[in-house]
Amino acid sequence: RWTVDINVDKESGYPQISEAAEYLRNGHVIAFPTETVYGLGADATSNTAVQRIFDAKGRPSDNPLIVHISSADQLSELVEEVTEVEYKLIQSFWPGPLTIIFRKKAGVFSDLVTAGLQSIGLRMPSHPVALELIRLAGKPLAAPSANTSGKPSPTTANHVFYDLTGKVSGIVDGGETGVGLESTVIDCTVSPPTILRPGGVTKDEIERCIGQVVMDASLKGENAPRSPGMKYTHYAPTAPLYLMKVKNKETLQVKINDLQAEGKRVGLLATYETAADIQTDHIAEIGSVSNLEEVARRLYSGIRSFDETEVDLIVAEAYPYEGIGIAIMNRLEKAAGHKWIL
Ligand code: TXA
Ligand code: MG
Repeated sequence: RWTVDINVDKESGYPQISEAAEYLRNGHVIAFPTETVYGLGADATSNTAVQRIFDAKGRPSDNPLIVHISSADQLSELVEEVTEVEYKLIQSFWPGPLTIIFRKKAGVFSDLVTAGLQSIGLRMPSHPVALELIRLAGKPLAAPSANTSGKPSPTTANHVFYDLTGKVSGIVDGGETGVGLESTVIDCTVSPPTILRPGGVTKDEIERCIGQVVMDASLKGENAPRSPGMKYTHYAPTAPLYLMKVKNKETLQVKINDLQAEGKRVGLLATYETAADIQTDHIAEIGSVSNLEEVARRLYSGIRSFDETEVDLIVAEAYPYEGIGIAIMNRLEKAAGHKWIL
């Protein structure tokens, strides 16, 4: 068990990626950048390799992994058939932040990858380092987010280092990720297709491509979760986080003052418009209200930043449930355990 930083040098044509690929071919786990968040990859066809992912993350074994591929040829080796709907999604959104749940082909994956389900989640990432790594490894790569289970997903190599140093064979450093939130997960084995996890690709974008889709009932808190991962607490900082719909800043300041009067040190996670002129113990600004893509990109870094402070609780600004705001609010509600300050 050891750790090495494999830095990516764009000029020299990613030579360190081939070193990382060799580790993967030999059954080791390697963290690598994707356009969403950093993934913790291993050969999806090897039980030994995939077990190492679960060990490193401390991940419950009933939570299946997404398998990452780099080409259309690879896809046809891994699924029985591609339906018309799936084909349209692939054409529009791959490579990119969309995970499609297919019916599983027997005998190709490690049983650990699918957690005993009859389906498999596949995604072709668009990050050039990820694509090159998969291509050189010559294997589909099972890769959950490269965080310790329950922590926010990593958007920099430093986040991975903080969580997993000593537990993985290497970290490929490709700088900060782009989308900042995990891929959208859509189940195409049911009709109508169902979004199990909102993410980088929005429901509107998907509907423009394949017509009506539905959000899984668990996303509205009505039913037991269908995507096994959705039942676990996620994305949580060390200090408790409370969501607040900030209608006006005076109310926010009064609330913070009240909490401080109770002896609490209060952190604020907000856009710079909301945070401006607010007095509190620590502020993490994560972009502008007029650019929710930026808020998504900086959300996990912002949440993690409080772990380096002494705050007793965090107040997080709530965002509109529209476009990428749906994915942002999904992660924030989980980080908050659905606790709101009214
Ligand atoms: O953006 C991403 O998707 C990142 C990067 C690394 O690609 N990966 C990621 O993996 O977020 P992970 O393991 O943290 O999340 C996978 C999600 C979980 O909620 C899991 O339950 C769901 O996908 N999932 C995987 N396979 C599934 C299946 N066959 N049926 C239903 N849900 C599945
Ligand atoms: Mg995850």
